Amino acid sequence: MGYDRELSFEYYSPTKIIFGENSVRDVGLEVDSLGCSKALIVTDQGIIEAGLAERVKEALGSRCVGTYDRCTQDSGFHLVNEGAAFALEQGADSLISVGGGSVIDTAKGMAIVMKEGGKLEDYSGVQMLSRPQTPHIVVPTTAGTGSEVTRYAAIKNWDLNIKDFIFDYFIIPDRAILDPTMTTSLPPGLTAGTGMDAFSHALEAIHTMGRHPIGDAMALHAIRLIVEYLPRCVADGGDLFARGQQQLAAAIAGIACSTTYFGLNHAMAHCLGALFEVPHGVGNSILLPHVMLFNLDECADCYAQVAAAMGLDLRGMNDVEAGKAAAEAVRELTQKIGLPQKLREVGVPEEGLAEAAEMALSDGCIIYNPRMVMEAEEVLDIYRAAW
Ligand SMILES: [Fe+2]
Repeated sequence: MGYDRELSFEYYSPTKIIFGENSVRDVGLEVDSLGCSKALIVTDQGIIEAGLAERVKEALGSRCVGTYDRCTQDSGFHLVNEGAAFALEQGADSLISVGGGSVIDTAKGMAIVMKEGGKLEDYSGVQMLSRPQTPHIVVPTTAGTGSEVTRYAAIKNWDLNIKDFIFDYFIIPDRAILDPTMTTSLPPGLTAGTGMDAFSHALEAIHTMGRHPIGDAMALHAIRLIVEYLPRCVADGGDLFARGQQQLAAAIAGIACSTTYFGLNHAMAHCLGALFEVPHGVGNSILLPHVMLFNLDECADCYAQVAAAMGLDLRGMNDVEAGKAAAEAVRELTQKIGLPQKLREVGVPEEGLAEAAEMALSDGCIIYNPRMVMEAEEVLDIYRAAW
């Protein structure tokens, strides 16, 4: 797995990870360890109804000063600003996000507004912050986003119908409490979709122009774990061991991609989310085999390593053949766990593909794709193949 260019990278991953069944009980101790005493829970209605926020509240005891529960899928700037104002009213000195990627990213935005004042709109972009933000502990209830350990937050701009991004080392959460008992109520479809988001983080960490040896090692192990344990999580949501391994895979892939960036797959999935509300993991999952074939000539050696990590028998194959086999194995994995195979199955209209292709060209992730993408027509061809 050679590097045919001069290697230069940064690796920074300061999140303390607390892993184990019922580790959520330690959330109060982690608040103490951050020098805080007034924690606000950030969550959504589904998490409240599943009783998961209540478990965190109980563990926090008198440290809990309130709950902000208005997060939605594709949380927007208005919700972040509203949540931050609520947190300050309650006198909160720390945030505990309990939920999936959208909840976690909302809390990342709130942490900024609570510390810096103003509105989150003032801070979107790359490395706009210059000091640590409001302490933030994450208790993920899905196993895919990796946001519990990344420097990324995606916030939807509902006025322009686009996703805005914050890339900043100062929004990496301080703690990630990975408790598999917090993920067992996630239904099979969401388990599969969010799980494949983690797979696509690992895959893109390996093929991106920002790849490096630490990221490769992490991403390949995340792939091994996902191939083995994600199907078990989907088949039996109560399989705590498998749930825990998938949670670790998501966090490991998250750390990898937080230091390597992404590629064309995420650029294209972002546009499907913004324009047609395709769930992030599902969009990534459908596109991935097609994007791998598009990139194959540039990174066959990487994909051959992916094929090996997926446990394929590669005897007699060269790297290109192994890469093709990896793309097909990814497709088979998504089929095995019951995910849609075509964009037409998830509400994407054929006549909308051209707009999505144009939009993808201006998504920041595309810059790091291993094969340079110059024309919307190239992206459109991939969308059409996946449609
Ligand atoms: Fe993702």
